Amino acid sequence: MKIGIVGGTGGMGKGFALRWCKKHDILIGSRDATRAAESAQEYTNLAKEVHGQISGSIVGNDNETIVKDSDVLILSIQYEHIDSVCSQLLPQIKDSCIVISPIVPMTKTDVGFEFIPIKENKPYSYQLVEKHMKNKSKLVSAFHVISEKKLADPTLVLDYDIFVCGDDKDSVNVVNELINEIEGLRPIYLGPGSLSYFTEMVTPLLLNAMIKNKLKNPGIKIV
Ligand SMILES: NC(=O)c1ccc[n+]([C@@H]2O[C@H](COP(=O)([O-])OP(=O)(O)OC[C@H]3O[C@@H](n4cnc5c(N)ncnc54)[C@H](OP(=O)(O)O)[C@@H]3O)[C@@H](O)[C@H]2O)c1
Repeated sequence: MKIGIVGGTGGMGKGFALRWCKKHDILIGSRDATRAAESAQEYTNLAKEVHGQISGSIVGNDNETIVKDSDVLILSIQYEHIDSVCSQLLPQIKDSCIVISPIVPMTKTDVGFEFIPIKENKPYSYQLVEKHMKNKSKLVSAFHVISEKKLADPTLVLDYDIFVCGDDKDSVNVVNELINEIEGLRPIYLGPGSLSYFTEMVTPLLLNAMIKNKLKNPGIKIV
């Protein structure tokens, strides 16, 4: 499977690439093709160091090129850039492409981390991305509650749940499978995409809990 990562040069992109290159072909996307190629080379070297041989591959190119080739596309960009990025790129994806949004609409204020849709009365991430989807049912929300530090360090032992929201059962199943491929992560389905605000909201909750209580590496696990 070809997994494209828009904004793949960032922290989350590195984590996804290192985890999934064992089995899949990873396409690192960037606004700058050279930066994407450099990141892809760096991640390939790291992946070989950590995993030994990998069955997949990691290559880099500009965002426009990688979205056309992707079977699964991860929007690894900040909330503020959803409209500009998605209006340009999402019309170009394959009809069968599944789009994953891990985007957290969060801001830091003097009281702590806050949820932008409530604080500023704006749409949550899923709603903003959905507007630009040709086939809205192919959008799946996931990965909001795992930090880049944990994803990008394959030597860490993980034991966390990942909330998943989406309308199309087959698309959700593909994302569940990708989550299961990362050792120590378990997918937990919450319901259709319209409930995505629940999972998007957990990240500021977790960060406030971490900072105010000096917790190390907190995550979510339903017991
Ligand atoms: N960091 C975490 O621990 C974490 C955890 C859970 C969820 N998330 C969510 O995952 C997403 C990615 O997080 P991240 O920490 O990897 O983000 P990031 O490092 O801040 O940014 C990711 C990439 O976005 C691209 N970018 C920057 N400005 C842009 C613009 N104006 N237009 C288009 N692309 C732009 C950059 O790539 P180029 O400059 O190469 O184009 C950058 O490498 C975010 O929505 C975040 O809320 C993050």
